[in-house]
Amino acid sequence: MKKRVAILISGGGSNMEALVQDMDKTHPAEPVLVLSNTPDAGGLSKAEARGIPNVCVDHRPFKGDRVAFEAELTKALELAAPDIICLAGFMRILTPEFIERWQGKMLNIHPSILPLFRGLHTHKRALEAGMAVHGCTVHEVTGELDGGPILGQAVIPVKENDTESDLAERLLVQEHRLYPAVLRKFAAGDRTPITLFP
Ligand code: GAR
Repeated sequence: MKKRVAILISGGGSNMEALVQDMDKTHPAEPVLVLSNTPDAGGLSKAEARGIPNVCVDHRPFKGDRVAFEAELTKALELAAPDIICLAGFMRILTPEFIERWQGKMLNIHPSILPLFRGLHTHKRALEAGMAVHGCTVHEVTGELDGGPILGQAVIPVKENDTESDLAERLLVQEHRLYPAVLRKFAAGDRTPITLFP
């Protein structure tokens, strides 16, 4: 039986689309839900266009009450009964309790070569640090922010005169290769890390 995948987004959802596109007949998993924490996430209409059940649990009415927000999130997720949750540009910090509930089942993609540049503004920080390479990481989600076992990394060269948006654009292409490759293996029970070069 195919594994059920829920994908959590906050924005354009290009990684979500890459994951969904890869989940063809031969894939060990299928998308069962796309969930956004903001109603204006472009990814919601992309999911709708692909006929994937989608829902918004807007975080704003909860006014910073993470526990109450996550209770709604959990309700929506439990209805979809996912075996795997993919965070794909989901920009909310999750509580240890929520992470514990889905421990071992939740993946995240982060736009840096972890453990370098946890948190935000990774492209800017890679440029400021004078890195010759930059990259992205898919990892299991644990209580440690942008920590957790690494399941795959892809790298790109940093070129002279690269701007933040140059890096973001080139890295996104690699994110779209890496995340589906990792999910395919993970859904089949294989957690050995993948490395991708451009
Ligand atoms: C991606 O670059 C992803 O790595 C990043 O947000 C972008 C989402 O783009 N995630 C994070 O920064 C998580 N800390 P998308 O909505 O087009 O997939």
